[in-house]
Amino acid sequence: MKELKKLFQNNRNWVKEKTGENPNYFKSLADAQDPLYLWFGCSDSRVPANEIVGLEPGELFVSRNVANVFPHTDFNCLSVLEYAVNILKVQHVIVCGHYGCGGVKAAMEEHPLGLVDNWLRHIRDVYAKHKGEIEALEDNTKRYRRLVELNVRQQVLNVCHTTILQEAWHKKKPITVHGWVYDLESGYLEDLNCCYTSLEQVESIYKMR
Ligand code: CO
Repeated sequence: MKELKKLFQNNRNWVKEKTGENPNYFKSLADAQDPLYLWFGCSDSRVPANEIVGLEPGELFVSRNVANVFPHTDFNCLSVLEYAVNILKVQHVIVCGHYGCGGVKAAMEEHPLGLVDNWLRHIRDVYAKHKGEIEALEDNTKRYRRLVELNVRQQVLNVCHTTILQEAWHKKKPITVHGWVYDLESGYLEDLNCCYTSLEQVESIYKMR
């Protein structure tokens, strides 16, 4: 309980700080949100989306789950994406993974964890797809880092393959999907250069119409 009291105290201090800088801070935030970016990241407590990219409340729409997975039929991911694209009209969708991801590590190991193993199957699919490339790397650290990157790339593709993104691109909405990776040890973000901006980049088997 003592610790939770601390959280409320932190909250009071934060309100004081924000309203000290701008008395209308919460009032203007309460009126509307107008984020330009949607972030799909990992739930890991060491990867706080807003802080990493220096954005304030109201500037980044965020969805996080274990190991930043975007399954084709996940209603949470799809609802977030649809709301962000069609209602908030974000212009950038960022899938951000991170080195040192426990979810990705678990997907490379044999120990059963429980229900989450089913979720992490999506990452085992990525491993299976790129098995040759991953296993050609000489040590486990490199394999682990590569799987983190390949997982981001796959989830970027999954976002692009949704009806939501394809409809938006068909209507010529300016939306870019990005794949990034965050390094827990340095604090730096890295762009994996897997940017998608139009329907033309979507592989034909996944393309609508
Ligand atoms: Co993680």
